Amino acid sequence: MTPTTPPPPQALWFGKDMSTSEPIPEEAIERAVALMRTGRLHRYGEQGSGFPEPSLLEQEYATLVGSKYCVAVSSCGAAMFIALKALGVQPGDQVLTSSFTLAPVPGAIAHANAQAVLVETTEDFTTDLQDLASKLQSSSAKVFLISHMRGHITDLQAVRALCDAHGVAVVEDCAHTMGAKWADRYTGTWGRIGCFSTQTYKHINSGEGGFLVTDDDDVAAQAILMSGSYMMYAQHILRPSEEVFERWKYTTPNFSMRMSNLDAVLLRPQISLLAQRARQWNHIYAQLAQVLAQVPGISLPARHPEESYVASSIQFSLALPAPQVARFVQACQARGLYIKWFGQPTPQAFTSNFSHWHYLGDQPPLTRSMAVMQHLLDLRTPISLTDDECTLIGQIVSQAVAEARAEAVTPANAPTLP
Ligand SMILES: Cc1ncc(COP(=O)(O)O)c(C=O)c1O
Repeated sequence: MTPTTPPPPQALWFGKDMSTSEPIPEEAIERAVALMRTGRLHRYGEQGSGFPEPSLLEQEYATLVGSKYCVAVSSCGAAMFIALKALGVQPGDQVLTSSFTLAPVPGAIAHANAQAVLVETTEDFTTDLQDLASKLQSSSAKVFLISHMRGHITDLQAVRALCDAHGVAVVEDCAHTMGAKWADRYTGTWGRIGCFSTQTYKHINSGEGGFLVTDDDDVAAQAILMSGSYMMYAQHILRPSEEVFERWKYTTPNFSMRMSNLDAVLLRPQISLLAQRARQWNHIYAQLAQVLAQVPGISLPARHPEESYVASSIQFSLALPAPQVARFVQACQARGLYIKWFGQPTPQAFTSNFSHWHYLGDQPPLTRSMAVMQHLLDLRTPISLTDDECTLIGQIVSQAVAEARAEAVTPANAPTLP
């Protein structure tokens, strides 16, 4: 992207590519090469013995988070779609979901031909529990697909209590909370189903991939069948009894959303790196939070003592009118720092907000969420970010805020973001 306004001569320069990923561990590369030499990349086989790599991975991941079952799938979007189908969501049904999330979440609801009903977001980027309570009452939804967007975890005891009282199942979108906990219990295990992503920009990386975790026998059997096990479900180590499969195997469609052997060999050695990566990410978060909090006009969300997050990105609010926030983003870009803004008028790259998803149809007014988005800025934080780079980011943000404030921006002269 080319900066639209040249920075002043004394301006600082960042320039690091914040979209970089961690290399795949050597052990995983060696295993992947050996696997490719066999040609056997599909997880299921009609002959041979032993359990395939995704089955071993499922066992390892379920052990880590403390769930009874784990089903490895082709993406978190696939896990969410399967979750809705396994809970019996029918075409036209309403499904409650978070207004602050990314496009694959309403996308999974649309994929199930269901109707998303968005729940408001607080200034701390979590679910507005009052609005949840009111929409549990006013909607006919039987599922709340909560998105722990950008790693911000809502009080899950409160969410469960509210949803349980209405007989509504909770499905957790944990694409941004792998390894994170609420009240010392892993996200993904608070509701009926947890959905995780192993896509490149997440905590562990197989390019594409995901997990569905559950303790529910009927959900697990359906998820294994829907993911595309054909009648080879016995090749799952973690699976319910034959009796449970008998209930589902003639009525459950195969949606071909399996994980391949290749994805699983790439992921298995990364599971043990999660705790170390979490410490590194949280160190970066602490450094950045400290420097950003000193910039006038910037505020960081309060983090609840029960929340153990894994912060692979940082979000903050800038208390300026939208045209000046746009100017701030532009001033950062001019210094080689690409900050994303959830309030931008049109979707950009991975970033969009609910007002861009026109297929959702009419929604109740989401004034609180829209006010939050208008000020919400977002920075991905690769593990390679150093303390000095965090300091530099703070200095650039401070300069950019000053520049945005200095210029009286009106809607008429507001900069257009590239
Ligand atoms: C909040 C959130 N949920 C779900 C997903 C879907 O993950 P996947 O790409 O594995 O389908 C993403 C992807 O970026 C996401 O950001």
